[in-house]
Amino acid sequence: MKVLITGGSSGIGKGLAENFHEKGWDVLVTGRDVNKLAQLANDLQGIRTLVYDSSVADDEIKIVEFIRNVWENKLDILVNNAGHVALTPFGNLKRETLENMYRVHLTAPSLLTAGCLDALKNNKGQILNITSSHGIKPYAQLMAYGSAKSGLNMLTKIWALELAPFGIRVNAIAPGPTDTPVLTNSGFSAADIKNIQDTEQNAIPLKRRGEVSDIVNIAAALAGGAAWLTGAIIPVDGGISVS
Ligand SMILES: NC(=O)c1ccc[n+]([C@@H]2O[C@H](COP(=O)([O-])OP(=O)(O)OC[C@H]3O[C@@H](n4cnc5c(N)ncnc54)[C@H](OP(=O)(O)O)[C@@H]3O)[C@@H](O)[C@H]2O)c1
Repeated sequence: MKVLITGGSSGIGKGLAENFHEKGWDVLVTGRDVNKLAQLANDLQGIRTLVYDSSVADDEIKIVEFIRNVWENKLDILVNNAGHVALTPFGNLKRETLENMYRVHLTAPSLLTAGCLDALKNNKGQILNITSSHGIKPYAQLMAYGSAKSGLNMLTKIWALELAPFGIRVNAIAPGPTDTPVLTNSGFSAADIKNIQDTEQNAIPLKRRGEVSDIVNIAAALAGGAAWLTGAIIPVDGGISVS
């Protein structure tokens, strides 16, 4: 069994890579930071890695070529996970921030998915989009991130309809606030991170932030069965999206 995880060198993607590696799957992980990828390849023997930047035009071509040439154009699961967060209040709105957000969370997953379609068709594979509770529930100052993740939720449903005739299922996990380095990686200061995390903790009905294993366990359940599930957006968020 073969799985491709974008942004698999950190946080949720790394947790997914570890899970599939432990189960003996062939795992291909992408990320921008070559050192993080090398560390992962050292920790998880046999894993394959590729440097890939979702914001760079045509960068997905090397992934598609890898799958065609090394994996005989076969793919069981594509996980569109790579992403970042940005605050975008009206007072500090920049074209580049908006365009980068939509490139990384909408354009790149669409083009990568298109490139992987033949390989997914060959194995009647599935697509798992990692979206966000911010794509379900609106928050002020998150217009770019919230609308990008909401867009990816809608793409999940559109692709599910379009790809069902090929036996390809498409679902999304929409995580709530989960303990990963995402805020540090996205350039937030330590003080801002503490503020955000305290506010989130109080807003979550189950009164705790998520752990990577909370997300991985649901992804593993989707990977191992759920044969009649497609077009679903699954909130894994301690209830924050319904609060
Ligand atoms: N943690 C949360 O609270 C939370 C909640 C809801 C949704 N999510 C979503 O879950 C996904 C994973 O987030 P995470 O929390 O695990 O974050 P993370 O620890 O920062 O990991 C993000 C991964 O994506 C890669 N990445 C980031 N920008 C990229 C780009 N432009 N091109 C290619 N790869 C890129 C990173 O690798 P490099 O740095 O090497 O590029 C890294 O491997 C994201 O889509 C995020 O929006 C997270």
